[in-house]
Amino acid sequence: MRKKMLAANWKMNLNLQEASDLYSNFIQNLPFNESNHFVVFSPFVFLPQLSTFNSTLALGAQNFYPAEKGAFTGEISISQLKELQVSVVLIGHSERRSYFYESNEFLKQKVDSALNHNMDVVFCCGESLETRDSDKHLAFVEAQLTDSLFHVSKEDILKCSIAYEPIWAIGTGRTANSEQIEEMHKSIRNWISMKYDEETGQSIAILYGGSCNEHNASEIFSCPNVDGGLIGGASLSTEGFLQIAQELN
Ligand code: 13P
Repeated sequence: MRKKMLAANWKMNLNLQEASDLYSNFIQNLPFNESNHFVVFSPFVFLPQLSTFNSTLALGAQNFYPAEKGAFTGEISISQLKELQVSVVLIGHSERRSYFYESNEFLKQKVDSALNHNMDVVFCCGESLETRDSDKHLAFVEAQLTDSLFHVSKEDILKCSIAYEPIWAIGTGRTANSEQIEEMHKSIRNWISMKYDEETGQSIAILYGGSCNEHNASEIFSCPNVDGGLIGGASLSTEGFLQIAQELN
């Protein structure tokens, strides 16, 4: 059976006390079991504190720089993150693509750097409203995956999950509808199967992100090719995130 995953992307929110309280509430209340995986993508500065909780709630980093070490002022390496118990990294988020100009080629370097260090990866993809309106969303997302992710080996792709986050649904309160989500998720799974093999396509978790909350999670998670969510705003409250988690199964 495919694993299910629910990930919180806290983005640049919370203070240390709030982050510790939220993380601790998640640890105490999330429905952990063999098939449910939970991750918190925390701001860097909270990681030392959160790593002391030593829990099955995985710690993730929202960013890193794909070099071993050196003169990269302000950047953080994968090896440094590993010292803080980080086991998964987010790559390709649309906010990093658009505000920080991360190109498909640069994201490919990040994917390689993470996998070379045995990090799990949640790789984000998704189209703008303009691309969707011109009916190019499938080709656009396929190109994002082909250019930055599908060069890796079968062994490595199995360490990756994919998050489909249509840009027009992020932080807007407007979610993609079930047909739109299922169409994209099914296509992503088919591309993985074609590039690798059917078994690999069936094994990889594909998450949805974009205004997913406690009110719509049930409908979104009932799509056959949706294996969980990458949650922004609704992951900043204990109640919201726990209610979404209840809808995972
Ligand atoms: P929202 O859930 O706030 O729309 O954010 C989604 C997101 O970008 C998660 O990475």
